[in-house]
Amino acid sequence: MYISTTPSEKLKELYSNARRVCVLTGAGISAESGVPTFRGGGGASVWKGMPFTEISSAQMVERDLDEVWAWFDYRRDVIKDKKPNEGHIALAEWHNRFEDFTLVTQNIDGLHWVAGSSDVIELHGNINRARCVMCEARFDLDRDKKHESDICQKCNGRLRPDVVLFGEYLPINAFERAMRKSRSCELFFVIGTSALVYPAAGLPEIAKEYGAYLVEVNPETTPLSSICDEVLQGRAGEILPMFKHQAYCK
Ligand code: OAD
Repeated sequence: MYISTTPSEKLKELYSNARRVCVLTGAGISAESGVPTFRGGGGASVWKGMPFTEISSAQMVERDLDEVWAWFDYRRDVIKDKKPNEGHIALAEWHNRFEDFTLVTQNIDGLHWVAGSSDVIELHGNINRARCVMCEARFDLDRDKKHESDICQKCNGRLRPDVVLFGEYLPINAFERAMRKSRSCELFFVIGTSALVYPAAGLPEIAKEYGAYLVEVNPETTPLSSICDEVLQGRAGEILPMFKHQAYCK
């Protein structure tokens, strides 16, 4: 395994020649935009004394949907003025660079879209959307308003944030597509995730199993580091722009 703060010659060559590339991002890609990570001890770790795994859980929706809204309204407020950073921007350019590029994210902040990425596979939903608990209709939220008492315009059911909570399944189409792309890519980057939450953390393992060159970008080691072909230790906003001037052999 290659560990460094800059890409190896082998990776540069693979990057120049690759056609099918897949990326999985986590909270770390947005850290340099000022969005707190979950396990970094910042404002996304605890809510009113409750660990985020409890307030962000399916049981909480049953028990106290108002409180779930209060937590996600707070997080929307934290996110609303945040801008994409160099990491998001570098990845947005990769869509045009590779014949088949897939960006999968665990983040709900929508910053990949704002950076110009198209077709982002959002495994955990999006904080700027609500979903009806009865008919599953989805609605975009106004960034500046609170929405806890909104009612579904189609069936009058109660709305909830359109995010995946602990104890809930991932959107099946999104996950299946991410799995397919993980199996068929040549190069897989896992960026800014502690790789503790499954099934998302299983995607890099699948990619590796099916023969992809696996690269991690993270200032810390994770449970995935040991199976990676290359570990780039550093911030996404510093490492990803290093690929910008890489020769283009398509
Ligand atoms: P975590 O908070 O668990 O991990 C963030 C990772 O980002 C850590 O490994 C950090 O070392 C790394 N990191 C920090 N700053 C970075 C930077 N500038 N560049 C690159 N990496 C950096 O967040 P996730 O792994 O995304 O799920 O968490 C996974 C899931 O757990 C989330 O999607 C969320 C949470 O519960 C749900 O809400 C369902």
